[in-house]
Amino acid sequence: MKFKQQIHDAAERNKSPIVLALDLTHRNRELLYTASLKLIRSASRFLCAVKINRQLVLPLGLHDSVASLVDEIHRQGIPAIMDAKINDIGHTNEFITSEYFSSGFDAVTASPFVGYKDGLEPVFRLAESEQRGVLLLVHMSHKGAAEGYGQTIIDEKTGQGRVQFEVFAERALKWGADGAIVGATFLDTIKRANEILGEKVPIFSPGVGVQGGSPSDALAAGAKYIIVGRSIYESEDPSRATEKLRNSIMATS
Ligand code: XMP
Repeated sequence: MKFKQQIHDAAERNKSPIVLALDLTHRNRELLYTASLKLIRSASRFLCAVKINRQLVLPLGLHDSVASLVDEIHRQGIPAIMDAKINDIGHTNEFITSEYFSSGFDAVTASPFVGYKDGLEPVFRLAESEQRGVLLLVHMSHKGAAEGYGQTIIDEKTGQGRVQFEVFAERALKWGADGAIVGATFLDTIKRANEILGEKVPIFSPGVGVQGGSPSDALAAGAKYIIVGRSIYESEDPSRATEKLRNSIMATS
């Protein structure tokens, strides 16, 4: 089943738009692995996906420990996203993507700044052939994000000024992305991206909680999924925090 359908079904089943950003850190690798496993097992029933980052891949290694965490995420019935932010030439991008897919990931994130031809084309091709997903960064959430994603560029066809992220949203649609990432700290940007993307490309919104974005505002502005890290895993009882967040979203939607 294609990633977009898989995450949609998981969200319906668990009544949750929450993607957990599993960014735990620990000096002791064994403890890091065990804590990650524990959080996956306790929180997954309140989630639609788990997103893994280099916080885990670098210390634990991809093909052994991280691949077995991905297996556990699948046993819990939800997909696993690798937040790789793929951003190189096509040949390298293809290798990176195939490594993540062969270790079980259902989707990868990628940066549209590198373009399609000899950039992200092999990533989209591989994802298509293996029924996986590609999520494009359309506008990030951190304070400096507008310096790149919000800059005005000149449209080469019309000679008119355009905002960079709108062009990335159009590319997400044109390239057949399975999701667009737009920060919860830029609500008007979510609304505008949603006008461009419509139903075809769901918006994933990080930056809620610690970075100041509101989950319900991001969802009301047009995000379909929210990505949450620290406000879950740094809480005293992460599973309870996930359940509370899920229930509060359900109550307001
Ligand atoms: P927190 O702890 O801030 O984690 O809830 C957010 C997670 O999402 C990843 N990520 C992004 N974070 N803006 C963000 O704030 C983005 O545009 C973005 N894209 C991905 C981040 O790496 C962390 O895992």
